Amino acid sequence: MPVRIILYSIVLFLASFQNAEADHEKIALQYPPDGTVVEYNIAEISLKVPAGSADAIKVYVNDNEDPLTIISDLEYKCFSVPLKLGVNKINIIALKGDYQVFNTIIKVFRRSDIVGAYINPPAGFKKDSFHMNEWPQCSKCHIMSPTEYDKKPLNPSTFKDLDKKALLSVTSTCYTCHNKITSSTYVHGPAAVWSCLSCHDPKSAPKYSVKKPDTELCFSCHTDQKNEWSGKKYTHGPVTLGKCTICHSPHASENPFNLVKPAWNLCVNCHAEKATGTHVLGGSMFTEGHPTHNRPDPVRIGKELTCASCHNPHASNYPHLWAFEVETIFELCQKCHKKKMN
Ligand code: HEC
Ligand code: HEC
Ligand code: HEC
Ligand code: HEC
Ligand code: HEC
Ligand code: HEC
Ligand code: HEC
Ligand code: HEC
Repeated sequence: MPVRIILYSIVLFLASFQNAEADHEKIALQYPPDGTVVEYNIAEISLKVPAGSADAIKVYVNDNEDPLTIISDLEYKCFSVPLKLGVNKINIIALKGDYQVFNTIIKVFRRSDIVGAYINPPAGFKKDSFHMNEWPQCSKCHIMSPTEYDKKPLNPSTFKDLDKKALLSVTSTCYTCHNKITSSTYVHGPAAVWSCLSCHDPKSAPKYSVKKPDTELCFSCHTDQKNEWSGKKYTHGPVTLGKCTICHSPHASENPFNLVKPAWNLCVNCHAEKATGTHVLGGSMFTEGHPTHNRPDPVRIGKELTCASCHNPHASNYPHLWAFEVETIFELCQKCHKKKMN
């Protein structure tokens, strides 16, 4: 018996000793933890790579054949990878000479407010609040506390005249880590000038969380819209619920007005039955129905016909949220078919 205990102790002692040694020199994933839920199309990754521990790091996202290859030169390697909706598998492999010295797989879930199958994460996945922890290991290189420059007074109506270059010449605290968040074609005003604290409150809990519902946040600057829409008889379902970001990215996107999807796709996401050709003219002699996209908009020159050509996505005084402030369906048709109807 005692011999066994002594043996065990020796083994344990040696094991712990080895671990401590290894920890010191070991490559380690700092962020994100396995099973994290993220909202946007990127995962931000930070890897600790002690000097001399690896020559190259290969990152495979969803078993892609063409991995991201990083040469390890800093103690911490920080990078980001693109994500598809749902569960993404990220495999990080470090090589030293011909040997694999590190191999880990993490899964992150990219959720969506509007795509049914991706609203709720599967069991085992949860949101992580990065900024709720102290990260002394990051502050070696990154500034972790916001400065006054992270909040600038902004007014949508005077934004065009702002000297944006002057604003940007003062570095944002958030930029080093979150630079990818604005790298899309259409960038929302305050995000474009890195006024992140216009919306993210460092004093809130979790830190940097935003006011809810979205209307509290959005209408603080978009007062014209607030006044206009609140005076209307009908408001659109999601607007009534205060969910602006279900359609608009607060940061940036590939679609005009920072829409999270092209307008037509956005609408049929919730109104799936309108995706077929039978809308508006359904049941009449025009069995093909009225077009709702893939045609030029006759009124808004240069734009494509979409659901928003006939409906106001926010509010209207007229039934079915008709656009153009028309009062009857006939008037609506006339906006685009003047000649024919006359
Ligand atoms: C040894 C210095 C150093 C440390 C420590 C460090 N970083 Fe970085 N980090 C950098 C540098 C330098 C960049 C810019 C990388 C570039 O532009 O190639 C960067 C960029 C980033 C990015 C943006 C990556 C991208 O795709 O552009 C993120 C996110 C990030 N760091 C997070 C972290 C986190 C989280 C920690 C702590 C766990 C951390 N960093 C610790 C040096 C460091
Ligand atoms: C050291 C790098 C780093 C810096 C600097 C940084 N962030 Fe982050 N932040 C992260 C990482 C990593 C995450 C978690 C991944 C994600 O959600 O993108 C994160 C997440 C967030 C989130 C989501 C909520 C949370 O806590 O996970 C918000 C909001 C946010 N950051 C805002 C900011 C703002 C505003 C600034 C500037 C004042 C800032 N961050 C500066 C690295 C950083
Ligand atoms: C117009 C308001 C607004 C501005 C400006 C803004 N954000 Fe956000 N941000 C939001 C909202 C709304 C969310 C969604 C939060 C939620 O629903 O919990 C969000 C979420 C985030 C997240 C979390 C993403 C995730 O995966 O969970 C990060 C990171 C973030 N913002 C960083 C930034 C940075 C960096 C800036 C500055 C360039 C910035 N934001 C500017 C409104 C804003
Ligand atoms: C800090 C003030 C501020 C807040 C808060 C804010 N915005 Fe904005 N918004 C602006 C500015 C400034 C512009 C840029 C106007 C321009 O480009 O001329 C803008 C532009 C827009 C545009 C494009 C308008 C156009 O005509 O192209 C949309 C859409 C928008 N914001 C939606 C939102 C939504 C949704 C929210 C809430 C999540 C929000 N905004 C919160 C200041 C703000
Ligand atoms: C159902 C989707 C949807 C919701 C919800 C939504 N929007 Fe929009 N929004 C749009 C579309 C689509 C456009 C572009 C309309 C067009 O093409 O004329 C737009 C345009 C805008 C514009 C620029 C043009 C204008 O009308 O002033 C602003 C600002 C704006 N939205 C703010 C908001 C705010 C604030 C909220 C929340 C109260 C909100 N949106 C909710 C879909 C939506
Ligand atoms: C997030 C889901 C969602 C999205 C995206 C969405 N809607 Fe809606 N829509 C609703 C809800 C919920 C209602 C309220 C249903 C009701 O009152 O019966 C509604 C109602 C409507 C109505 C009024 C129906 C009536 O007769 O009163 C119209 C018109 C409409 N939506 C058009 C659009 C258009 C155009 C878009 C794209 C710009 C769009 N919707 C995007 C959820 C959505
Ligand atoms: C050419 C103009 C036009 C376009 C484009 C259009 N609609 Fe309509 N929509 C109407 C008219 C007119 C009505 C009312 C007559 C009716 O019920 O068919 C209506 C009614 C609706 C209603 C409420 C009544 C119902 O049938 O549920 C919804 C919701 C709606 N449309 C959504 C959409 C969506 C989503 C799109 C894009 C896929 C779209 N509309 C494109 C003209 C249009
Ligand atoms: C926002 C502009 C707009 C409004 C409003 C509008 N239409 Fe159209 N309509 C179009 C466009 C664009 C076409 C396609 C023309 C083409 O392909 O050359 C079209 C085509 C048609 C066609 C021909 C269909 C076909 O397949 O060739 C009919 C009939 C028609 N519309 C009737 C109506 C009626 C009825 C209304 C009112 C309920 C209406 N439209 C409202 C833009 C509009």
